[in-house]
Amino acid sequence: MKALLDALAAEGPRAEADAALARAIDAARLPAHIAVIMDGNGRWARRRGMPRVAGHKAGIGPVRSTVETGARLGLRALTLYAFSVENWKRPRSEIATLWTLLRIYLRAELEEMQRHDIRFTAIGRLNELPAHVRRELDAVIESTAGNRGMRLNLAINYGGRAEIVDAVKALIKDAPGEIDEAAISARLYTAGMPDPDLLIRTSGEMRVSNFLLWQIAYAELYVTETLWPDFTRAELLRAILDFQKRQRRFGGVPASSDEAPVEAAVLAR
Ligand code: FPP
Repeated sequence: MKALLDALAAEGPRAEADAALARAIDAARLPAHIAVIMDGNGRWARRRGMPRVAGHKAGIGPVRSTVETGARLGLRALTLYAFSVENWKRPRSEIATLWTLLRIYLRAELEEMQRHDIRFTAIGRLNELPAHVRRELDAVIESTAGNRGMRLNLAINYGGRAEIVDAVKALIKDAPGEIDEAAISARLYTAGMPDPDLLIRTSGEMRVSNFLLWQIAYAELYVTETLWPDFTRAELLRAILDFQKRQRRFGGVPASSDEAPVEAAVLAR
């Protein structure tokens, strides 16, 4: 949190509005893990009369700012949905462009990740990715493996149901007698990470799109109409402020709600 406030102060008056948002955040109640469905790149491009891939290219800027801000805030984990198992249905040329953008991003951002002590990981059926994509990912995963700051987790060829199937298969193979929630969680791609507290989705769609289905059981949802290429640092901070206003009950009731003294009277009526 201090790293973010210092960086905003160094940016001077043009960052004052963002600094005011950052100061309003309660550092003691940050979400440990934020997950983001980065949606709306295609619409962003179409509205400008440009090809869809121009929207993906424009989506790199918000990836950078979200990662940097998350690291400066001191999040434990940030998971970004970059490519779903369903995205193979897109035109081959669009898919190829996404791999190119991923390579450009990874090569350009490695230094930044080291500077912010970010540990990079990828989740999904990575073995089905083209070998050249896999190599790029592995190189950054290895180079940042010793970092101890925020975990940046890229979901690539990811599907929530596929992940649960993979976890159950692993469980049946190595511990068939131990099927409980902890045993499944421990075999998900996200094993060892806290579950997301906050799930952000851009572009207004009210769907979870097969993303982290198991892990978002109690996540707070923040859906914004903003298209991903327009998603700013300020909006990330506003999403966190909105999260901090929510009352999370995890299926229980607020601690102050002991109604035992009046329950008998209600039943007797
Ligand atoms: C959804 O928009 C976006 C994607 C499927 C890809 C996300 C990719 C990026 C943000 C670019 C680069 C990312 C990295 C990590 C380098 P959409 O195409 O479904 O938009 P639409 O719903 O408006 O068509």
